[in-house]
Amino acid sequence: MKVAVFGAGYVGLVTGACFADLGHEVVVRDVVADRIEALRAGRVPIHEDGLGELLERNERRLHFTTDVTEAVDGADVIYIAVGTPPTYSGDADLSAVWTVVDELPQTDRRIVVAMKSTVPVGTGRSVRHRLDDRGLDNVGYVSNPEFTAEGTAIEDFMHPDRIVIGAFDVADGDVVAKLHEGIDAPLVRCDVASAEMIKLAANAALVTRISFINEIANVCEATGADVTTVSQGIGLDRRIGPSFLRAGIGFGGSCFPKDSLALKQLAANSGYNFQLLNAVIEVNELQKRRVIGKLERRLGPLRGKRIALLGLAFKPGTDDMREAPSLVLAGRLLSEGADVVAWDPVANGASHLHGVEIAETALAALDGADAAVVVTEWPELRELDWAAAAEHMRTRVVVDGRNLLDPDAIRALGFAYEGIGRPVA
Ligand SMILES: NC(=O)c1ccc[n+]([C@@H]2O[C@H](COP(=O)([O-])OP(=O)(O)OC[C@H]3O[C@@H](n4cnc5c(N)ncnc54)[C@H](O)[C@@H]3O)[C@@H](O)[C@H]2O)c1
Repeated sequence: MKVAVFGAGYVGLVTGACFADLGHEVVVRDVVADRIEALRAGRVPIHEDGLGELLERNERRLHFTTDVTEAVDGADVIYIAVGTPPTYSGDADLSAVWTVVDELPQTDRRIVVAMKSTVPVGTGRSVRHRLDDRGLDNVGYVSNPEFTAEGTAIEDFMHPDRIVIGAFDVADGDVVAKLHEGIDAPLVRCDVASAEMIKLAANAALVTRISFINEIANVCEATGADVTTVSQGIGLDRRIGPSFLRAGIGFGGSCFPKDSLALKQLAANSGYNFQLLNAVIEVNELQKRRVIGKLERRLGPLRGKRIALLGLAFKPGTDDMREAPSLVLAGRLLSEGADVVAWDPVANGASHLHGVEIAETALAALDGADAAVVVTEWPELRELDWAAAAEHMRTRVVVDGRNLLDPDAIRALGFAYEGIGRPVA
C-alpha cells in the first residue's frame, strides 16, 4: 500500500520507517525544510534506537518531502502524526492537525486519514465535519492512536500490546488493519471516540501508577520503609503487576504531562471534575521539587553551591527534553542561587537550559561539585567510576532521583546518599 505520513517527528518517523519495513511505499511530509533535507541526506534528526538503521534499510521505499501534493499523490492512507502540544489553558493545541486537514486536496478515489497524533475525544467527529464541509466525502477517517514509548519505539511499533482502530466506516478501519499485516497483535476495533479515549485513558492509568508509587515512596521516607522493596513486594501480586512502580522524581516527556492535562481539561470542559487525575498531576509537580529539600538538608542554603545534574532527557534512550524534570530542577536550583552544571549523553542541554553550564562528561560535571543529582537513569551513570567522582567533588553528596545506584556501594565511598523513598543512613 502507499502511505503518506504528515509529521517527521518521533512518531511520524518511526511510523514511516516501520510501515516501509512492512513493505509499504511511504512518503513522509514535514513543514520544516531543514528536517526533510537532513532526512534526504541520510541524517536522522532525532535520537531513537535503531531508527537510523531502519531508515537506511528501507531507503528505496521511503521518500521525504515538504510538498503536500507529492505526499498525497496515490496514497491509500494518510497518517497525521503532527504535534499536539498543550496550550496555555492545558487543552491540546490542535492547530497543526487542522492545518493538515485543510491542506488535503480533493480526491476522486477513496483515501483514509488515520490519526496518530494524540487528540481529545471528539476530535475525530470534528475532523469528519470539516472534511464533509470541504466536500471531501471520499476521505475516510480512522483513529489509530500510538502507544510507542521513546527509546523503545521501533520494538513497540513492531510488537505492540494491541492495535486500536476506531472508525466511522468499517471498510476504512479494514484498510488500516490491512496496513498492519505482518504485525502480530490483538486488534481493538471500535468507534472513533472510544479509540481516542483508549489512548488518553492508557496514559492516565500509567501516570496514576507513577504518582501512586511516588506517594508511597514519600510515606516510606517518613516512616523508614524502603520503596524499592515495597515495589517488588506489591508488583509480585498478579492483580497489580510490576511495571510502572519505580519511584522517582516524577514523570515528564512529550506525552504524559500533556495528555494527562488534556484529559483533565477535556473532563472539565465536559462538566466533570476528574479529581483523581488532578491529584496525580499535582503529586507529580511536587515530586519534581523534592530534590531541593534533600539538597538543602545536606548542604544548607544552596546559594553559591555547585550542583551537578546528571541526565537531562526525560528518560534514558531519548534526547527528548520536553517537560523533563531536569528543566524544573534546573530552574529551581538557579532561583535558589546555585551554580548548575549538567551532563547528558545525548540531549542537547545547551538549547533548553539557560544559565546552566553543560559538561562534556559526567565526571567533568562532578568536578568541584557540592552534590550530584541523578536525574535520568542512564546506564552510564550506574557504570560511572564513582570512586573517581568522589575524588573530584568538593562535597560527597549524591541525591539519586531515580534510585539507580546501590546505596551501600556509594556510601562505602564516603558519600552521603539519598534516594527516593529509601532509608537515609
Ligand atoms: N513522542 C512519542 O513517543 C509519542 C507517543 C505516542 C503518541 N504521540 C503523539 O504523537 C504526536 C506527535 O508527537 P511527536 O513526539 O512525534 O511530535 P514532534 O514534535 O516530534 O513531531 C511533529 C512534527 O510534525 C511536523 N508538522 C507540524 N505541522 C505539520 C504539517 N502541517 N504537515 C506536516 N508536518 C507537520 C513538525 O514540524 C514536527 O516535525 C503528538 O500528538 C503526540 O502526543 C507521541
